[in-house]
Amino acid sequence: MSQIRQRLGVNIDHVATLRNARGGAYPDPVRAALLAQEAGADGITAHLREDRRHIMDADIEALMASIRVPLNFEMAATAEMQAIALRHKPHAVCIVPEKREERTTEGGLDVAGDMNRLADFIAPLTEAGSRVSLFIGHDPRQIEAAVRVAAPVIELHTGRYCDLVAEGEAEAAALELAELLKGARMGHELGLEVHAGHGLSYATVAPFAATEEIRELNIGHFLISEAVFLGLEPAIREMRRLMDAARG
Ligand code: PXP
Repeated sequence: MSQIRQRLGVNIDHVATLRNARGGAYPDPVRAALLAQEAGADGITAHLREDRRHIMDADIEALMASIRVPLNFEMAATAEMQAIALRHKPHAVCIVPEKREERTTEGGLDVAGDMNRLADFIAPLTEAGSRVSLFIGHDPRQIEAAVRVAAPVIELHTGRYCDLVAEGEAEAAALELAELLKGARMGHELGLEVHAGHGLSYATVAPFAATEEIRELNIGHFLISEAVFLGLEPAIREMRRLMDAARG
């Protein structure tokens, strides 16, 4: 199989986290998005959380008006967020579970347990022209359910794998990775476009970048953290280099 270049979506949420720490105007997430675009990002991801802890409504508006690469709008499956997505009609909508008390998105969406509601939720977004993606774990039931609710895309949650690597749990990490890659192949065979993301870094990106069935990676926190030391463009360029090297 010839290797199709994998897309890199850069998540700029934590530029907004830094901005909001002081309540002012900088650093500006839109400036970060434009720089990311210059550095080769194929898309920009922004998560408008219900509590607006980082990205705010005005950021989504400004991003839609400024960037030329596609916006992947991450959101919870709520009526408020659906209305915002329908107003902006971003290229992609990634539906994530959201709990107010969590520090970041901790688990995947329970698609299998919420099929009727999610199917009704997704339909108008698809009709409006957004590609809907569901952020899920590697459980085959969830992957099958994504097909049943007519989502064209799934994003596999790589967070647990990255945590296990960081904790030095090599055996458990290898098992988790095998399940994720099995999930990617299964999703692809079922006709879904497969993405992956959460917690990825230079140390953990390679096996996902090397997997043909994974068409896109979405990476945020690590890149913004690296940008403190290297600058955003070099940090993104290095990630791009590692992805291309792993894909061979
Ligand atoms: N993909 C999804 C669906 C996410 O919710 C997040 C975090 O907002 C990411 C990717 C990026 O994760 P990280 O910031 O850990 O790279």
